[in-house]
Amino acid sequence: MRGRKAFTTSAGDFPTIENYVGATPLVRLQRLPGNTTNTILAKLEGNNPAGSVKDRPALNMINEAERRGDLTPGDTLIEATSGNTGIALAMAAAIKGYKMKLIMPSNMSEERRASMAAYGAELISVPPGAMEIARDMAQEMAADGQGVVLDQFGNLDNPAAHFEGTGPEIWSQTGGQVTHFISSMGTTGTIMGNSRYLKGQNPEIEIIGLQPSEGASIPGIRRWPKEYLPRIFDEKRVDRVMNIGQLEAEETMRAMARTEGIFAGVSSGGAIAGALRLSEEVENATIVAIVCDRGDRYLSTGVFSAKESPAPTDPEGFWMAVTRLMGLPNLYVLFTSDLDPESGRAWCPDCARAEPAVERALEEHPDATLLVCRVGPRPAWKDPQHPLRVDPNLQVSCIPTLVQWGIDTPMQNRCLGDKLEECGSEDEVYRLVTDFM
Ligand SMILES: Cc1ncc(COP(=O)(O)O)c(C=O)c1O
Repeated sequence: MRGRKAFTTSAGDFPTIENYVGATPLVRLQRLPGNTTNTILAKLEGNNPAGSVKDRPALNMINEAERRGDLTPGDTLIEATSGNTGIALAMAAAIKGYKMKLIMPSNMSEERRASMAAYGAELISVPPGAMEIARDMAQEMAADGQGVVLDQFGNLDNPAAHFEGTGPEIWSQTGGQVTHFISSMGTTGTIMGNSRYLKGQNPEIEIIGLQPSEGASIPGIRRWPKEYLPRIFDEKRVDRVMNIGQLEAEETMRAMARTEGIFAGVSSGGAIAGALRLSEEVENATIVAIVCDRGDRYLSTGVFSAKESPAPTDPEGFWMAVTRLMGLPNLYVLFTSDLDPESGRAWCPDCARAEPAVERALEEHPDATLLVCRVGPRPAWKDPQHPLRVDPNLQVSCIPTLVQWGIDTPMQNRCLGDKLEECGSEDEVYRLVTDFM
């Protein structure tokens, strides 16, 4: 074979599927962040072989137990899990040669059960929603000598997978530039391990944990009551906890697929929503958010199709409303954010501050009329193609914006935009608007 270098390869030179757990991509969001000095990066954990961030701890918990002599291939693993951990453990057990028994509530989605079964796991059902029964059963089976429970909530090899893998990857992929790290919290393994590693490199990095707001149900993450916090959790490692509503998480998830081409799950929508919120508070930051899994895992729930995001305000509707009011002597238009369905307040903090103050200022002008134009939910507004941004006669570029409407080209009217945004308090807005009027 002239011109070719002869070499021999032994089977051991080739990687196995295990070698492809970790080393996931870190990608920049191009559209959702809008016009900002910040860089928002998504760590795509759905690119792991079994499709989620849980591949890392699943494999590490087995490897470390083997290293300590607590497990030998052929043993049986038992775990109570309703989600990604079950799928990841089923894969890891298949790679390493273990039998796997997974105990879960019977209302788990069909694609999850099917994925676990495809990896050869035995599934044991308990009544719908009965995670506590599942946990007790796992412990009883282990006590009965039927197998070993790895217990992701109390097992330090869970955060260690992130201390040794995810954290160093983020540090090197950002060239040490990361300033903020955001992760949804379930077992808290992801945030604990990354926090310990990243703070060790630079104590200034801010670590933000996401939990569902009261009443929200986001698969994989929990709003832990203090007494039920996972044993691996150490509150000193989290600088700030953000609450995330179900609607905001789901809307952001849908927007990620549509406007960034990132097809991810609901808790990932929550993490990106957190990053977008944070991006409104900081400048020149490099924000890394964990995208835990892929969206196809949620298709059967209908979350991508059944509920469409509320459509952003359409310019046609706006023009109709404004035309109807045009004859009035003192017409003002306030472009502001939609209301968060949970808090009932504008989702944009600057808008939430401005709205009551604008209304108060207007009450003193009985001849004035205010038309409030809501620009839609956060992800819709962040889209550079938002209809009110691109309408040539409007080109609304910031919220809140207050316009005194006249007969000339609308946005060339007297207008308060950036200055409103800069106000630190409701009183400041009130004074500014009163002077403006
Ligand atoms: C979809 C999803 N998001 C977020 C998490 C949270 O990860 P952690 O358990 O490391 O806190 C999990 C954990 O299972 C998950 O399945």
